Amino acid sequence: MSELQPSSNNADVATLRSPPRHIAIIMDGNGRWAKARGLPRALGHKEGVEALRRAVEASRDLGVTHLSVYAFSTENWNRPQTEIDALFDLLRVFVRRDLARLHKDGVRIRIIGSRIGLSDDILSLIDEAMAKTKDNTRLTLNIAFNYGGRGEIVAAMQQMARAVEAGQLKSDQIDEAMVSRMVWSGESPDPDLVIRTSGELRLSNFLLWSGAYAELMFMDLWWPDFTRESLEKAIDAYRRRDRRFGGLGA
Ligand code: IPE
Ligand code: IPE
Ligand code: MG
Repeated sequence: MSELQPSSNNADVATLRSPPRHIAIIMDGNGRWAKARGLPRALGHKEGVEALRRAVEASRDLGVTHLSVYAFSTENWNRPQTEIDALFDLLRVFVRRDLARLHKDGVRIRIIGSRIGLSDDILSLIDEAMAKTKDNTRLTLNIAFNYGGRGEIVAAMQQMARAVEAGQLKSDQIDEAMVSRMVWSGESPDPDLVIRTSGELRLSNFLLWSGAYAELMFMDLWWPDFTRESLEKAIDAYRRRDRRFGGLGA
C-alpha cells in the first residue's frame, strides 16, 4: 500500500470499527499487468475477471453486503474500438458464465450506468441478470458499466426536473435523501470504502455522489493480482480508520 497515513488517524486495536458494509472498487491496472508480461491488453482484462470472481467470493465470505465494481466508464469510450469490444465481450462472458452460480450463492446483480450506447444484446443480458437475481439478499453486486459519476447526477436531476414539470414534485421537496435514492446506485447504502488498484490516485468519475464520505484506499498492485488477502488487508486498514464525518471522532 502506498498510503501515507499518520498514525494519529488510526484508531487503536481496542476500538476497531465494524467492517464495511459496502465496498466499491476501481478495478484498474489490467493493461499494465498484461504489458509487464508482454501479453495483449485483452488478456489483462480476462485475468481481471478472475480477480473479480475472487473479490465477489471474498466479499460474501467476509460479511460485506454490497460490492460495487467499476467495469466500464463513460470515458472508456475514448479507447480504441478493439479494446471496447474486448471489454464488452467480457461483460457478456461474465454474465453468461457466472449468472447461475451467483444466483445460487444469493448474489443480487445490479448493473448501474447509462443504457445509452449499449447494444440490444447487452441490454437484454443486463435485464435478464437483474430480473433473475432481484430477490437475492446475501450480497448486492453493483456492476458499474457505462457508468459516470457526473452522468449519474445529471440523470437524477433530469428525473426530478421532469417530475417538477409534471407537477408531481415541488422544487423545495428535493433534498439529499431524495437524490441519494434517485441516482443509479441508489438501491445501495453509501460506500464505506472505495479501493483503487494500480497506484493511480484519482476517482476517475466513480460514485461522486454516494462516495462523498467514503474512506479511500489506494493499493499498489494491478487489478489482476488482487486476491482475498488484498481484500482482507483493505478491510483491516479500514477498521483502524477514524471516521469523523466532520465531528471530533473517537
Ligand atoms: C482497468 O484496467 C479496466 C478498465 C478500465 C475497463 P485498464 O484497462 O485501465 O488498465 P491500465 O490502467 O491501462 O493498466
Ligand atoms: C477507471 O479506470 C475506470 C475503470 C476501472 C472501469 P481508467 O483506467 O479508465 O481511468 P483513468 O483513465 O486512468 O482515469
Ligand atoms: Mg486504467
